[in-house]
Amino acid sequence: MTVEALPSPVRTGFPTGFVWGAATAAYQIEGAAGEDGRTPSIWDTFSRVPGAVRNGDTGDIAADHYHRYRDDVALMAELGLGAYRFSLSWPRIQPGGRGPANPAGLDFYDRLVDELLAHGITPVATLYHWDLPQELESAGGWPVRDTAYRFAEYAQLAASRLGDRIPTWTTLNEPWCSAFLGYGSGVHAPGRTDPADALAAHHHLLLAHGLGTAALRAELPAAAQVSLTLNLAAVRPLSTDPGDLDAARRVDGLANRIFLDPVFHGRYPADVLADTAAVTDWSFVHDGDLAEISRPIDSLGINYYTPTVVAADDPGAPAPRQDGHQGERSPWPADAGIRFLPAEGNRTAMGWPVDADGLYELLTRLRDDLPGTPLLVTENGAAYEDYSDPSGAVHDPERVAYLHGHLSAVRRAIADGAPVNGYFLWSLLDNFEWAYGYSKRFGIVHVDFASQRRTPKDSARWYAEVVRTGELPD
Ligand code: FCB
Repeated sequence: MTVEALPSPVRTGFPTGFVWGAATAAYQIEGAAGEDGRTPSIWDTFSRVPGAVRNGDTGDIAADHYHRYRDDVALMAELGLGAYRFSLSWPRIQPGGRGPANPAGLDFYDRLVDELLAHGITPVATLYHWDLPQELESAGGWPVRDTAYRFAEYAQLAASRLGDRIPTWTTLNEPWCSAFLGYGSGVHAPGRTDPADALAAHHHLLLAHGLGTAALRAELPAAAQVSLTLNLAAVRPLSTDPGDLDAARRVDGLANRIFLDPVFHGRYPADVLADTAAVTDWSFVHDGDLAEISRPIDSLGINYYTPTVVAADDPGAPAPRQDGHQGERSPWPADAGIRFLPAEGNRTAMGWPVDADGLYELLTRLRDDLPGTPLLVTENGAAYEDYSDPSGAVHDPERVAYLHGHLSAVRRAIADGAPVNGYFLWSLLDNFEWAYGYSKRFGIVHVDFASQRRTPKDSARWYAEVVRTGELPD
């Protein structure tokens, strides 16, 4: 029998070279808010607004990672992680968002990166995970064009110091949230609520991505990879009724094509411009912006948690907006006539239905829509009501089931041709979950915030085994 004639092995594993990682973000874990020259970001300000964050929690101390990064890297090494996705704090690196770099702020990331490399863990850095220097917000924030130019300057400062050792850079994390939760519904910093500002913020974030990409390319070695992470929505119409299908088209426009078309095709979708015409005339888009925004990137990061089910308005069946985002106001500009409904399925502690098919749908759609663009799952995970039992163990079978289901979906998408190169679990550690404060635990490592003690949950052991074998257990 020739080798060629042997039956091909049943594909139970992930491809060789698949990157196994975990993710965090600066404001959610670092703490040390006033140390070594760091100035406040919009989240320092927003978390002090009464009622903005549950329990009045702030990121002042968070998981104290700034001081405990060595132990945290050791923990990552114990789990066998191949890569670590973290974010750089803009106000630590460039206090106030203008002027020269703060060497003490860069020193922290320098130490962190060296520690990761010493443990064989690849650093994957995000430049902007929502912590705009407060001074830039006071000067107008993301609705103002100049903020995009400030971002490019910051990108250059970060890359010139760290670019020799960080092979993959992400410009922005989830600009949808920065624009629409930050300036639309106001449940995220800076807490502003004007849909026209939200759309201007959206455009300037994309411009920042384009200008930042150019700044990174100018500074980084040729082999470095530049990426963007989006929280694209797996949008599903409730039925095939034309009204429901049109609601799905509109939400697909505002969640997905409003990013993918400018970044990958250098244009805004005509239907989105028409749908939002009553909100803004889009005059903030200048000649040349779309060429800047559509500079080639090396991969696309996808964050996925739960699908988005939409339907046409039904005056007889009023339903609260259940799009997974809290707040009285809608983050979606021009969403009159659209109902957001929950998907079927068990809910996590965030109230988000568990539905791994949504991840498969997204990855295979991107396989078709962006042929040849490498994909990374840069966030996926779940919050549950975890507690440490009297023996000190943290049993989190629901999280294991969630991860198993979603990793199976990733594997299925890969088998069906989606070019997915890696998976970063959200999150390594329990952390400051934005407007929910410390009340929602996403970590595979439990953090007791009073003592800062770290305890790997059962899911951490489970994930370590997946990473080790490259396979999902039965
Ligand atoms: C994403 C954020 C991340 C975390 C998870 C739960 O939207 O990027 O910081 O809060 O949700």
